[in-house]
Amino acid sequence: MDKLTIRRPDDMHLHLRDGEMLRAVLPETARHFSRALVMPNLVPPVVTGREATAYRDRILAAKPQGSDFRPLMTLYLTEDTDVHDMRAAFESGLITAVKLYPAGATTNSASGVADFTKVKPVLEEMARIGLPLCVHGEVTDPTVDIFDREAVFIDRVLDPIRRDVPGLRVVMEHITTSDAVAYVRDGGEDLAATITTHHLVINRNHILAGGIKPHYYCLPVAKRETHRLALVSAAISGEAAFFLGTDSAPHADAAKLLPCGCAGCFTATNTMSVLAELFESEDALDRLEGFISVYGAAFYRLPPNAGTLTLVKGDPVTYPASIAAGDDFVTVFDPDMPLHWRVED
Ligand code: NCD
Ligand code: ZN
Repeated sequence: MDKLTIRRPDDMHLHLRDGEMLRAVLPETARHFSRALVMPNLVPPVVTGREATAYRDRILAAKPQGSDFRPLMTLYLTEDTDVHDMRAAFESGLITAVKLYPAGATTNSASGVADFTKVKPVLEEMARIGLPLCVHGEVTDPTVDIFDREAVFIDRVLDPIRRDVPGLRVVMEHITTSDAVAYVRDGGEDLAATITTHHLVINRNHILAGGIKPHYYCLPVAKRETHRLALVSAAISGEAAFFLGTDSAPHADAAKLLPCGCAGCFTATNTMSVLAELFESEDALDRLEGFISVYGAAFYRLPPNAGTLTLVKGDPVTYPASIAAGDDFVTVFDPDMPLHWRVED
């Protein structure tokens, strides 16, 4: 096969940032994706309906001319989140999900939740109205090894929350372990997971072997190869609980290439090529549409996108090593393999 036409895809986990960075990265996603679930971890975070409206309007203003891209907004859950404001934001169609960051787990998560009992009334209301909770699934306990933080989170935090709040619809974001794959497979219809592009193609050796590679560092950090293989098997399985959320997370090179550099891989530019290459190598191109264009929308109870996207196979694809954002540059994810599929204009 050298040509594939599918329904237009959705990116169910994306960081667009704000200001110059927003204007630089939005076209990279809007070129191929109809919709994206936009993460609220700005500084300060997007906590209220009013803030989500203002952020949505800034995104719409930054949209390339002629693009019909639609941002799906989220609220950042804090211990002070107002239930009524959240419900109104959902019922008006403004927001699609609420994001839970354990306090201190990742980039810009200082306002996240430390005491989970404080957010129980909010979670109960979300279960009642069917508003999904997107979860950054890592414990922040400094005594837990960073490679174990996702698996420990399932046992210590996520499973207790789901038992405590029956009917809560949860998306475990950017899963990185076979433990998470198994947990989601067993979780019933109220549980799903996003998988990123980069976690499908790199393992921790890419970050650490032969010299440290800051552009492969993200959170949750990539794990050993057996875990990557579990993610690939989930992504190509045709199981509707697993769908794409790229977690494309731009940081200026100046912020990544430091003694203490930021976490995040910027994959928006070449995500479609990477995914097509991977699915083809797994003999699973017929499963790509479900993973990127069908299951995510179905979980969020959104209508499927109307348009189509065509991928064609040919000579190795080229893409810029970095994109300019104001005076800064954002390095594009290097999949460490030749890519042959490009999106037809
Ligand atoms: C994200 C970011 O930069 O905002 N970073 C990352 O490594 N994935 C935050 C997140 O999703 O954890
Ligand atoms: Zn993210």
